[in-house]
Amino acid sequence: MDHLGRKFNRIGILTSGGDAPGMNSAIRAVTRFSIGCGVDVYGIYEGYKGLLAGEGYIKKLSPKDVSSIVNKGGTVLYSARCDEFKTDAGIQKALDTCKLFRIDGIIAIGGDGTFKGASELCKRGLPCIGIPATIDNDITCTDYSIGFDTAVNTVIENVDKLRDTCESHARCSVVEVMGRKAGYIALNSAIAVGATAVLINENKRGSENEMIEKIREEKSCGKRNFIVIISEGIDESSESIARRIESETGVETKFARLAHIIRGGSPSLKDRLAASEMGVAAVELLLQGRENLFVCERESRITSVDIMEAITTDRMYKSSFIKSINFDLGELSCYSEAQIEKMKAFCMMRSSEIRRLSKIASSISNYL
Ligand code: F6P
Repeated sequence: MDHLGRKFNRIGILTSGGDAPGMNSAIRAVTRFSIGCGVDVYGIYEGYKGLLAGEGYIKKLSPKDVSSIVNKGGTVLYSARCDEFKTDAGIQKALDTCKLFRIDGIIAIGGDGTFKGASELCKRGLPCIGIPATIDNDITCTDYSIGFDTAVNTVIENVDKLRDTCESHARCSVVEVMGRKAGYIALNSAIAVGATAVLINENKRGSENEMIEKIREEKSCGKRNFIVIISEGIDESSESIARRIESETGVETKFARLAHIIRGGSPSLKDRLAASEMGVAAVELLLQGRENLFVCERESRITSVDIMEAITTDRMYKSSFIKSINFDLGELSCYSEAQIEKMKAFCMMRSSEIRRLSKIASSISNYL
């Protein structure tokens, strides 16, 4: 029984939004741990779209069904975008499906959009727990999101290869990586591959002109290969930056967009571990009668945060560098002062982490 006297007999599990390496490890952990606790698990295929559709999209999972998936990229439950779920009628349909299949709670694996969906279900009485999984690692309240480590390792593997050919031909490679509006993938990869420069949304100050000047100077002193990492979603197009480098420095410049290639592949140790730990933690929370939470990693420990608080913190943080997000302070009116302070602290920690990494990237990239 949970604190409200509800007994969990069946939980549903879904993956939503962009897939991320490690999602399967989380599905395996949730399924096997729940069954071990005497709770049935229903896999909901294609995320919220499957939850709305019900019949044909929901299947009871056995421990065997999740065998040999711990090492697989993508998500065996599939993922889909679902605009209908953003409407009241859509949410009601999802609740009706849960009633029909006697699903008492949901574990939703994904990014910020996934949590918004989960919190809507929670508001209407269906307990939900979120597990953060997005290669972007851009959910403000958690230090880590499943998939990030594998994605960055894929960037490293590819950019190391590009560097070989840049050195042979005395070229520059401009590499655009995913991240939506967040620069974590770009920044971390830039440090790891030893990039000449990195351009991200969160920190634009003078970076492009400085980069051009740096390439010119280093070229004149004999450097043959240049790697520039750009995070997708910066205002200017990455291709035009590549053209500018070539025309203003005289270094032949090739452009590569890694795009979805970094979303695939076998998850790394970090992602398998985080996914397994978070999967177990999510089931534990649900069975303890906790709800409307999302599991997160803080200072290397697995813990949890209120989903609504996490969503508000995320909007608060991102509004400072994403033009389309207008954060209205009125959004904070339902929170206590202590909660607001906590949210601000998360935002400040995130910003200072970006500044810290940017400093490291620039302080160790000088050839001269
Ligand atoms: O959020 C993950 C992500 O891969 C982002 O990095 C990227 O901007 C977006 O999803 C791409 O989405 P889609 O798979 O719909 O092209």
